[in-house]
Amino acid sequence: MITRFFLVTCIIFSYYDITLATYEDEFDSVFANISDATLSEDGKLNFTQLATKYGYSADQYDLTTEDGYILTLFNLPGNGPSVLLFHGVDDICDTFIIRGNISISITLANAGYNIWLGNSRGTKYGRRHVTLDPDANKEEFWDYSFHEIGSYDLAATIDFIRNKTGEDSIATIGHSQGTTAHYVLASTRPEYNERIKVTISLAPIAFLSNLAPPVSLVADVGPAISLLFKSLGMEEILQDRKALSNIVTLICSKGLISYALCGFGALFPFSGVDPSNIEPEFLRTIFGHYPAATSRKSLVHFDQVYLRKRFSQYDYGTIKNLAKYGSIAPPDYDLSAITAKIALIAGKNDQLSKVKDVEHLRDRLPNVVHYEVSEPKLWSHLDFVWAKTLPIHVYPTIFKILEKYV
Ligand SMILES: *[C@@H]1O[C@H](CO)[C@@H](O)[C@H](O)[C@H]1NC(C)=O
Ligand SMILES: *[C@@H]1O[C@H](CO)[C@@H](O)[C@H](O)[C@H]1NC(C)=O
Ligand SMILES: *[C@@H]1O[C@H](CO)[C@@H](O)[C@H](O)[C@H]1NC(C)=O
Ligand SMILES: *[C@@H]1O[C@H](CO)[C@@H](O)[C@H](O)[C@H]1NC(C)=O
Repeated sequence: MITRFFLVTCIIFSYYDITLATYEDEFDSVFANISDATLSEDGKLNFTQLATKYGYSADQYDLTTEDGYILTLFNLPGNGPSVLLFHGVDDICDTFIIRGNISISITLANAGYNIWLGNSRGTKYGRRHVTLDPDANKEEFWDYSFHEIGSYDLAATIDFIRNKTGEDSIATIGHSQGTTAHYVLASTRPEYNERIKVTISLAPIAFLSNLAPPVSLVADVGPAISLLFKSLGMEEILQDRKALSNIVTLICSKGLISYALCGFGALFPFSGVDPSNIEPEFLRTIFGHYPAATSRKSLVHFDQVYLRKRFSQYDYGTIKNLAKYGSIAPPDYDLSAITAKIALIAGKNDQLSKVKDVEHLRDRLPNVVHYEVSEPKLWSHLDFVWAKTLPIHVYPTIFKILEKYV
């Protein structure tokens, strides 16, 4: 029932996306104007403007990955050691600043750390390439998943910071897919273990074997949803400020009704929620920045991790696997090769990063220096970036680990 409902919703949304695409410019500007009217001030400010509001003049750099993607990297300059923050799927670096002066980036910058905020390809800060056009060369540009985000985007970001600051190695903090990217990079390019002093994984994602409804129900029909998107030519999911995502913003930034509809109706069942930590009013900020674009292939790769119950490279099917990997099945990521120090922090009510899956990961990583399940019963996936009580429940651990290893 729920899956059928979800499929129908997808079809309707896809239909609207395509219809609206026909009249793109007119619709985009109308929806942008309507949805802007319902956003909070912080919902409308971009990263640089938020940094200024909360006391920092952010520096902005472009870096180019080995495979040609051009990514924006922000820096809140500080005299202390560098800490890189790396965001999750459907998200961008804004996620680490939208809580203002209690956000992770501002809190760590206030403590003197030199804060870097990376962005993965496909987001509005990574929708550029040296030769490919994201609209004209859809098939090539959007042909990536967390594998490329880890092995190219995160690698280039770490190297850029090392080069800029002269530090041999840096500390990093990942959220959700930002943690997956670390596991990919450190297992497939082991030389990067030495370039990471310690990495803190917030809501770690490697295994997805213990997903429960409703997430698992949607994941079960993932291949069908993907086929549908593919047949509609949708390789890019939820492009920033385009008609579909503007409708999301419009519906999702209207206070209490939105809280019911977008919060409890869509976002929270998939992430878990503690309403006292992500309050209705805050949605008016969140949906000015979230969701950010990603590729269809990214979602398919996560779906494969769930369906195959293995943390492996992308499954192209037997013939292409043989050509690409020399084996019928895609190779597993070799977690035993990850020698960098890792701190894992999970949430009891996280519906994506389930505690059992994080335990499974912990037992396979050779150098876990800290493991913690956050105290509150309702602590969820998004609380790690957006909760009002982050300073009580998560920052003490982050500070303890940075002070010890950085
Ligand atoms: C949207 O707002 C901009 C600036 O406020 C204005 O120039 C533009 O005409 C508006 N578009 C529509 C369709 O109302
Ligand atoms: C933020 O907005 C300001 C004002 O519109 C603009 O000058 C700046 O380039 C924007 N920065 C980013 C990172 O988009
Ligand atoms: C945080 O910002 C708010 C306004 O945005 C301000 O009222 C408050 O004093 C600030 N708190 C700190 C600790 O700077
Ligand atoms: C390192 O920085 C130097 C000078 O800023 C630059 O010429 C060089 O290309 C950089 N190397 C990398 C790998 O980014």
